[in-house]
Amino acid sequence: MKKQLVDIKKPGSIETKPTKTSTSLIFPRDLYRSWLKGLYVIGRGKLPQKDMALNALYAEVKRLMEHNQDAVIRIWRAFTSERDKLSLKLLNQGASVFAYAAGFHLINSTRLLGVLERAARDLDRIILQPKRYSCVVACDFGAGTGALSQTFFFHFGKKLRDLKIPTSLHLIDQNTKLLGAAQVFIDDLAFPPQVKTHKFMLQDLLVSHDANWLRIPETLKRSSDDVGQPLYVSFLGYVVNELKRNPKGFHRLFELMEQQSPKDHVVFYFDPADERDARGAMEVRELFHDLGYEAIYPCPRVAHCPMLTEPRDWCYSEFTWVQPTLQNLVNQMLGVSRSVLASSAYIFVSKSVAKDLKSTRRHAEVVVGRPAIKTDNHYRGKNKLFSYNVCTENGLKKSLSAKGEKQLRGSLFVETP
Ligand SMILES: C[S@@+](CC[C@H](N)C(=O)[O-])C[C@H]1O[C@@H](n2cnc3c(N)ncnc32)[C@H](O)[C@@H]1O
Repeated sequence: MKKQLVDIKKPGSIETKPTKTSTSLIFPRDLYRSWLKGLYVIGRGKLPQKDMALNALYAEVKRLMEHNQDAVIRIWRAFTSERDKLSLKLLNQGASVFAYAAGFHLINSTRLLGVLERAARDLDRIILQPKRYSCVVACDFGAGTGALSQTFFFHFGKKLRDLKIPTSLHLIDQNTKLLGAAQVFIDDLAFPPQVKTHKFMLQDLLVSHDANWLRIPETLKRSSDDVGQPLYVSFLGYVVNELKRNPKGFHRLFELMEQQSPKDHVVFYFDPADERDARGAMEVRELFHDLGYEAIYPCPRVAHCPMLTEPRDWCYSEFTWVQPTLQNLVNQMLGVSRSVLASSAYIFVSKSVAKDLKSTRRHAEVVVGRPAIKTDNHYRGKNKLFSYNVCTENGLKKSLSAKGEKQLRGSLFVETP
């Protein structure tokens, strides 16, 4: 069956096209519409008319993007090439929230969609358990515009509702405007969780068992209170690298992760993929490992990360996607392509969850690191051979693979003759 996707030339129209590569993600139409609507609300300060057609919404948001072009570029630079000088105050300025949502919301959403797809089997097995869980309590730490939690509930909201598992979401950030924007995106979901926003600095996290903000609302508990315990889901999207300059915030956050480790807890962790941050993320993986968590994505190996001792290589994930129309406009403004999205992306689960998963988990082989391109002399240079660093349950191995597309980091390794 062919998939539907948003056409790049005709704003808002839907047509059928082949995917760019066999592994390219198709950005879901409803989530794209939701992004446009959110940008409209942030940019105009009001909801669009209920019957506004997608084409009209597209045209309005395009105008807003063009109007805010300078801010989009400024915020993009601040979070990429100029990240070392990043000030949290930057996001308080005028069009910054619109610019952040324009430049990063959709791409971070896509990164999570990629991870959800690759880890689908394990995640469904973990999360969709009405007999085990009384409710799902999610926390988005440094939520920004809520890209990760919105995408998670876009993916799991209906399934959880159908299983009668109630859901709640705590959005935590130091910036009120960003929290407001995140609420807009979550409110637009077809099956939204019960949302609570919390404006505070992570260094002020109350790490105690009766921390008010993490208390499960009475209204969330099932009427027959005899089923299970909560499943906790945490999102750490591009915030841990910022906390490296904020040791108290980092310490508090990981105190909380430690406190949550005896419970049923799933953590989605994302940070940039450049060498410094990816190595930092590999260290964060070690920290989670020491706290008793297991990395179920991308790692086939439970023990310490074997890439840590590779001197000229580091682990991260890559995703290709068919980009929606307005994303291309943002790319043009920024002078980037973003056809391949890279990310240090991990899923950690606490011991009890890992134990529950044990019987069904497959420790497949995963592409990590940088594939060197070799030429196969036999074919007189016509045929490229890729040399992959492949991570296995027992450590790293080098594997050659010929023909076809370059295999993406973080994907299952496919041996081709
Ligand atoms: C790069 S943005 C990431 C936003 C979102 N998680 C995402 O994946 O798109 C980092 C966010 O963390 C927030 N943040 C950074 N340091 C923080 C701190 N110490 N306390 C609370 N929020 C913080 C910022 O306000 C910003 O919204």
